[in-house]
Amino acid sequence: MPHATPLLALLLLASTPALAQNGPPPLTPEQSQAASARYQQYCALCHSPDRSGYANDHAPSLKSPQLFAAGYPYIIGEAIAYGRPGTPMGAYHEEVGGPLKRAEIRELTMWLRDQAGAEPVELPDGAVLGDVALGAQVYADTCATCHGAQGEGGTGTALGNATMLALTPDAFIRHTIENGRDGTPMLAFRDTLSDAQIDGVTAFIRSRSSGWTVPEPQRHVPPALDAYIMNPEAPAPEFALTDGLYVSSAELDRELKAGKRLVLLDTRVTSMWERGHIEGSVPGPYYASREEVMANLPTDGTWIVAYCECPRAAAESVVRKLREGGLTHTAVLWEGFQGWVSLGYPVVGGNAAPKPE
Ligand code: HEC
Ligand code: HEC
Repeated sequence: MPHATPLLALLLLASTPALAQNGPPPLTPEQSQAASARYQQYCALCHSPDRSGYANDHAPSLKSPQLFAAGYPYIIGEAIAYGRPGTPMGAYHEEVGGPLKRAEIRELTMWLRDQAGAEPVELPDGAVLGDVALGAQVYADTCATCHGAQGEGGTGTALGNATMLALTPDAFIRHTIENGRDGTPMLAFRDTLSDAQIDGVTAFIRSRSSGWTVPEPQRHVPPALDAYIMNPEAPAPEFALTDGLYVSSAELDRELKAGKRLVLLDTRVTSMWERGHIEGSVPGPYYASREEVMANLPTDGTWIVAYCECPRAAAESVVRKLREGGLTHTAVLWEGFQGWVSLGYPVVGGNAAPKPE
């Protein structure tokens, strides 16, 4: 199973309450009208024309006040952009093959929120700490009938979905359990579960972020420096860089499969590399100095492709350093790690160390 826990996104989300308070500017009438039309074109099939959900595939309601009270526009927008892989909810962002631009997703999200008419609540930052063992019991007794014994979903949404968990803060999950969702089978558990039970089941759901049956994520150990080059004996890849800088996931996948000589540099914080990465990549985090990154890299014209989480900023900053240092055969993966995962390309999430051979 591909490892898809973009933790960076989670951290970014956890620090966005300011967005909930001030919010983006209101939609113009033209933007509202366009968003409404897009809703009917792309979403009504499952979420129903009046947004009450359950027209197809158990698609949840997009009009319950609780969803929009707790789901800052940014959180809802991420669900629309990246979908819930493995469920009928697809990814709509053009960068991962969807039909919508970022601005169109934002308008759609704001329009949905306006229609629901919910006042945002301010949610606490950070993790909900709870007794995971107690939470596992609550889950099995109270939640599994609808959400599935393995969080695979059923009447309820797939709570074990790695993308949902990665893009959804704890406070949002907790708020949903406490307050339910009006007009749907999801009841409020405020009066039937204790605070400790709600904290526990929230912590239990969070503990499944790397997969329902993989409670402890495995860590990878960086390879020796002389193993940074993949396929050292093979010919160089043929990249046609867009804007002199970018390669697409499709191009990179093709060259990796063809076993070409290159270095794949993971520019995210190293803990993310340790938990999962594109096979064969090596850590070269964005916060390292030019000297530190270059110390590990060949200077003989070997291609170096950098990627980061979502989608390019960190990788671009590293490639800028490398180019300043004279490494011109350098490129940035256009869709980033999240895009790569959403497009279905493979990542290493288990315990095998990357094989540079
Ligand atoms: C083919 C059916 C289908 C279509 C079309 C579809 N969705 Fe979904 N959507 C789902 C399902 C099913 C889920 C719940 C998935 C899960 O987590 O189990 C979902 C979940 C969501 C969520 C998360 C809600 C929550 O409770 O966290 C949002 C937001 C959403 N969809 C918005 C949209 C929008 C906006 C569109 C149109 C651009 C759309 N969906 C199109 C089926 C669909
Ligand atoms: C009777 C069925 C049912 C039971 C029991 C139930 N849920 Fe739900 N749950 C749902 C449905 C249906 C939804 C989607 C509601 C909507 O349309 O917004 C949902 C949504 C959620 C969500 C939001 C997920 C998302 O994708 O945004 C969370 C979190 C959740 N439930 C947790 C729980 C927990 C924890 C329990 C047990 C304490 C529980 N639920 C019990 C049916 C149920």
